[in-house]
Amino acid sequence: MIDDVFSNPELRTLNFEPLILAIETSCDETAAALTRRYEILSSLVSSQVKDHQPYGGVVPELASRKHITAINFLIDEALAEVNKSFDDLDGVAVSTGPGLVGALMVGVACAKTLAFVLNKPLIAVNHLEAHIFSVLAGNPHLKPPFICLVISGGHTLLVLVKEFALYQLLGQTLDDAAGEAFDKVGKLLGLPYPGGPQIEKAAARGNKAAFDLPRPLLNSDDFNFSFSGLKTAVVYLLRRLKEQKKDFRLVDVAASFQEAVADVLLSKTIRAVNQHGLKSIAVVGGVSANNYLRQKFEKAAAKDQLQVIFPVKELSTDNAAMVGLAAYHQYINKNFSGLDVGVEPNLGLPASS
Ligand code: KG4
Ligand code: ZN
Repeated sequence: MIDDVFSNPELRTLNFEPLILAIETSCDETAAALTRRYEILSSLVSSQVKDHQPYGGVVPELASRKHITAINFLIDEALAEVNKSFDDLDGVAVSTGPGLVGALMVGVACAKTLAFVLNKPLIAVNHLEAHIFSVLAGNPHLKPPFICLVISGGHTLLVLVKEFALYQLLGQTLDDAAGEAFDKVGKLLGLPYPGGPQIEKAAARGNKAAFDLPRPLLNSDDFNFSFSGLKTAVVYLLRRLKEQKKDFRLVDVAASFQEAVADVLLSKTIRAVNQHGLKSIAVVGGVSANNYLRQKFEKAAAKDQLQVIFPVKELSTDNAAMVGLAAYHQYINKNFSGLDVGVEPNLGLPASS
């Protein structure tokens, strides 16, 4: 049955649930997935982390070239895994932005070609919206309104999800994104790219109270974030410790930094949910893979009798399944794109107000 959050009566009476091929190439993961409604039939991700690691961050040109070599194989595999062929598809979905321009172009060119050759609808998906939809896998009955914290490598957004596809942006980062701060501090600590998972690992062995780092904008009366000052505080801390020739453990710096980020994210999110009189929080995007953060949110939510939902781990970081879940909603509403659709590297979340 099609959920009643979706509104196309024509398709509802047909009880039609389209099989969607979804493609994701916005940054350094090449991904293809097959989805039907909120069911993920197959989801494959080829990470380029090892290719970018020697450079300490994503090299855009390299990312595009790696997408080109991986994408066809991933699509073939995603279909073969569940014994489907191109003829079985009802639509082709792709992230068109935000992301790296060249990287996005690979996925979009591929999706357009398939949609044209197969004569199937093309669905252009906003990558940020796809992250929001990622919570629906495993939580298909989640109904708006709820507060969604989107924390990825490029974005930190606090969003009131009024309905699916109807959003109010409550706040966002004024400088670095949460994931970007993890990556930059990871670099300062001499950890390999990407810093997020590495800091989590190091922090698990550290003392989060070892160093008193700033909690930027913690008490500001808006819902914005700022992480660049926190990163600078870590630079000064490391410099001071080295100058004073103090014995210190990097794991303690990692734990103190992670705690400062988690404190700000949690405090603003709880304030947003209470201010809007809501009971549910979704936390999505790469940083939501962080176990410490998950536990901290779960503890606070239980205390305040709130519900907090995370995507399954594999859907926290970039993947194509979330693109398919968002595309289903667009399909049902016949929100298709023409073959002239372009990439939008700076695309924001479609805001209702
Ligand atoms: O959502 P995502 O895969 O890509 C973007 O859309 O940006 O997010 C990637 C970001 C990176 O900054 C990475 O360091 C961070 O998510 N990340 C983590 C963890 N896993 C990935 N940050 C903290 N803890 C983690 N376990
Ligand atoms: Zn992402």
